[in-house]
This record gives sequence, C-alpha cells and structure tokens, in this order.
Amino acid sequence: MLNFARGRRESRSNRPLSLGGMDYPDPKRKNNFVGKIILAAALTALCIIMLKQSPSFNPTSTFSRRESGVTHVLVTGGAGYIGSHAALRLLKDSYRVTIVDNLSRGNLGAVKVLQQLFPEPGRLQFIYADLGDPKSVNKIFAENAFDAVMHFAAVAYVGESTLDPLKYYHNITSNTLVVVEAMAKHRVRTLIYSSTCATYGEPEKMPITEETTQVPINPYGKAKKMAEDIILDFSKNSNMAVMILRYFNVIGSDPEGRLGEAPRPELREHGRISGACFDAARGIIPGLKVRGTDYKTADGTCIRDYIDVTDLVDAHVKALEHARPGKVGIYNVGTGKGSSVKEFVEACKKATGVNIKVDFLPRRPGDYAEVYSDPSKILRELNWTAQHTNLQESLQVAWRWQKSHRDGYGTPMVVSS
Ligand SMILES: NC(=O)c1ccc[n+]([C@@H]2O[C@H](COP(=O)([O-])OP(=O)(O)OC[C@H]3O[C@@H](n4cnc5c(N)ncnc54)[C@H](O)[C@@H]3O)[C@@H](O)[C@H]2O)c1
Ligand SMILES: *[C@@H]1O[C@H](CO)[C@@H](O)[C@H](O)[C@H]1NC(C)=O
Ligand SMILES: *[C@@H]1O[C@H](CO)[C@@H](O)[C@H](O)[C@H]1NC(C)=O
Ligand SMILES: *[C@@H]1O[C@H](CO)[C@@H](O)[C@H](O)[C@H]1NC(C)=O
Repeated sequence: MLNFARGRRESRSNRPLSLGGMDYPDPKRKNNFVGKIILAAALTALCIIMLKQSPSFNPTSTFSRRESGVTHVLVTGGAGYIGSHAALRLLKDSYRVTIVDNLSRGNLGAVKVLQQLFPEPGRLQFIYADLGDPKSVNKIFAENAFDAVMHFAAVAYVGESTLDPLKYYHNITSNTLVVVEAMAKHRVRTLIYSSTCATYGEPEKMPITEETTQVPINPYGKAKKMAEDIILDFSKNSNMAVMILRYFNVIGSDPEGRLGEAPRPELREHGRISGACFDAARGIIPGLKVRGTDYKTADGTCIRDYIDVTDLVDAHVKALEHARPGKVGIYNVGTGKGSSVKEFVEACKKATGVNIKVDFLPRRPGDYAEVYSDPSKILRELNWTAQHTNLQESLQVAWRWQKSHRDGYGTPMVVSS
C-alpha cells in the first residue's frame, strides 16, 4: 500500500504508477517478460525512494484522529468517474476525504486534480490499495478515523460481466464484504453504497419503485444485489447507518470542467452510450450503432433514465446527511423521465456539433424496451430531485471536457506489455 498523503505528492507524482498492474495475473498477456523486468526495476527504485522519503505511518496524522465538526469520509473508487466527482463535492462541502483506489480502472490524474484544488493539510489523502486484500483494508481502517464510507469501487460493465462473471462476484460482492467487515471491526458507523437499477432486471411495470422486485438478469446486477443483501443482513443486527442508492444511467461531468469520464481504451467495447457518442464525434469509431428500432416505444428505440453525475453526487451528500444509526434507506436515483436512444443520439449530435453517422441495426438480445425510475421516495425523504435534466446540456458539459482532454487524464500508467 502506498500512502500518497498530500504534501509528499510532488516528489513522487510520476513514479508510483509504474506500480499499477503489478500483480495482474492476466492470462491474455503472455508477452510480459520484459514488462516484468522493467516492473521489478521500477519497484526496486520505488522501494528505495519510499525508504528514503516516506515517513512510515504517522499516528498523529490528521487523518487518524477524530475531530469534532469534521466528517471524514472514505471514498472507495475515488479515482473513478463517479467517485472522483463525489470526492470533489465532499471536499467543496468541507468534508475530510480519503480516497482508496488501486487504479485498475480509475485515473491518478483525477486524484491529482483534486489534490491541486484542495492542497491544505488534512483535506484529502490518496491511498493506493486493493480492496480485494483484507489485510491492507484492515490496516487502512486501523490507521484512519473514518466517520463514513462511500463505497464506489467496483467493476461496472454489464457486457463484461457476462463474459467474466467471477471477476464481478469477486470485485463487487466479495470486496463489499471485506469493506463491511472492516467497518464493523473498526466501528465506522455510516455506509453509503453504490447500487444500480441493474439489480431490478426486467420488471414488467414502469416506473421502477424501490419496492419493485429485484430479479437481476446479468452477473453485474446479481453481484450488486448480493452485495446489497450482505449489507442489509448485517445492518439488521448492527447500529450501522446504511443508505443504498440505486443509480440509473449516469452521464455528464463537472460543470466547471475539472473532472471528466475517462475509461480505459480497452473498456470501450463494453462502453456506455455517452462514451460511444463522444468517440463517434471524435472519429475514434466510425459511428453509432443503434440496435433495435421496433420496440414498443414512441420512436421504436429503447428508453432509459439518464442521471447527471452532478445530481447523483448531490444525492450522496443528502444521503450522508440523512443517515441515522440503525436505519436503512434505499433509494432510486434517477430523473423519473425516460429518453429514447434516438433522442439521446440527437442530443449528442447537437451537443458535439458533429453529424454523427448512425446505423440502425436489429435488436440485441437481452435489451429491454423501457427502464425509468420513480424517484418520489428520495424527494420525499431526502428532499433530493434531479436538477440537470436536459440531456443536451449534460452532454455539452461532458463534451467540453472530452474535447480538451483528448487523452483523458493522460496516458494510462499501467505497465503494459
Ligand atoms: N456509471 C454508471 O452508469 C453506473 C450506474 C449504476 C451504478 N454504478 C456504480 O457506481 C460505482 C462507480 O462507477 P464508475 O462508473 O465511477 O466506475 P469506474 O470504473 O470509473 O470507477 C470505479 C473505481 O473503482 C476502482 N476499483 C475497482 N476495483 C478496485 C479494488 N479492488 N480496489 C481498489 N479500487 C478498485 C477502480 O480503479 C476505479 O477507479 C460502481 O460501484 C458502479 O457499479 C455506476
Ligand atoms: C486492483 O483490484 C482489482 C480488483 O480487485 C484486482 O483484481 C487487481 O489485481 C488489482 N490491481 C492492482 C494493480 O492492485
Ligand atoms: C477484479 O477486476 C480486475 C480488473 O479491474 C481484474 O484484473 C481482476 O482479475 C479481478 N479480480 C478477480 C479476483 O477476478
Ligand atoms: C428542499 O430543497 C430545496 C432546494 O432544492 C430547499 O429550497 C428547501 O428548503 C428544502 N426543504 C427542506 C425541508 O429542507
């Protein structure tokens, strides 16, 4: 585990990530002998640097002490798309934030942006660690005084989950168990959990309420449902305050252009519609393929509920503020209004100003016609409602970041082979 507490950042900013991908037992990468040697060398260098520079864990660190009036939030997956936006919002609202991420999918660049915005001591620290490793997770909880956890870290692509289900059960379900165990052991009292509308599967009746029966139809949705079950069963005999948020389709980015969505290039094939739209607008892919124009919807294409990430992180802060010991809150986070794929594509064309080529193809098996939320419970109980409900505006904001960050946050720092 590397602890990039702020202040030591500058001296190391370019080095640590030669670490990423270190213990990737990836069977698809055969030709990684040279990579391993480079890695070993880098690692040795890094160890020397650490021995020289890194004061070992400091028990008087601000992050290890509770301070009245300061809420210290652990943001897992805080280098990722949603987690980084949540961390930004928390920091802006004067929370103390620790990000734990192993950068398997997130971006160190996003963490650096946050560190530059909030350089004061005691505001933000980044810890490089794998939540799949209970020992390092325990150590993190032992050395830091967290008041709450927002657990975003996960793998999150439906298509990929059907190809590699174990990756999903491990990285979602099993890692959530590790986090909850550490919270129980170290008496961290509040958990905000990132769940998804994929836990509902294909309900017959729309809109989806929190009472809609959950029958997930892919490993992603099932793994998230199992993680919810673990949390709910645990909460029955504990005093933990739990909020489970089931997000619909997340889009957009920071309106001030500081953060964006930058998934790894290799994940593009599993990608989400907004990513595909921007890739098409940039000419990285030839165009968009809309699958299915004969659904029973007004224009024949599928309908989804798109929620802007700014609203989504606002829901997290409201959930945190309303969390009460021994209570569980489960909320859909959506706009309550569906948009068709055709509407999305039109909004994307306008937002990017590019006349993206669109091919209309037959249906893809497993897609369902219409999914949208009933967000009335979260309005009633948390006074939250989506504010950024204009698709074109949300996409315009995201496109602005995409255009000025052609390379995302920079070259991925994983050692490739
Ligand atoms: N994006 C959406 O539309 C959407 C919809 C519903 C729910 N969600 C949920 O929101 C959460 C965040 O999603 P996102 O879109 O920001 O994904 P993301 O891939 O951008 O971020 C996930 C982060 O978790 C980190 N991570 C993964 N496994 C880890 C591990 N074992 N140890 C440490 N760090 C690890 C990754 O490095 C990455 O930074 C996920 O739980 C996802 O299931 C997302
Ligand atoms: C990061 O976490 C993932 C998910 O648990 C794990 O499979 C991967 O090996 C880890 N990578 C690194 C570099 O620690
Ligand atoms: C967890 O996900 C990562 C990719 O993010 C993958 O490399 C790893 O193999 C997964 N872990 C397990 C145990 O499947
Ligand atoms: C609910 O939120 C609105 C702003 O979105 C605010 O004006 C109002 O005061 C809030 N109501 C309560 C009861 O907190």
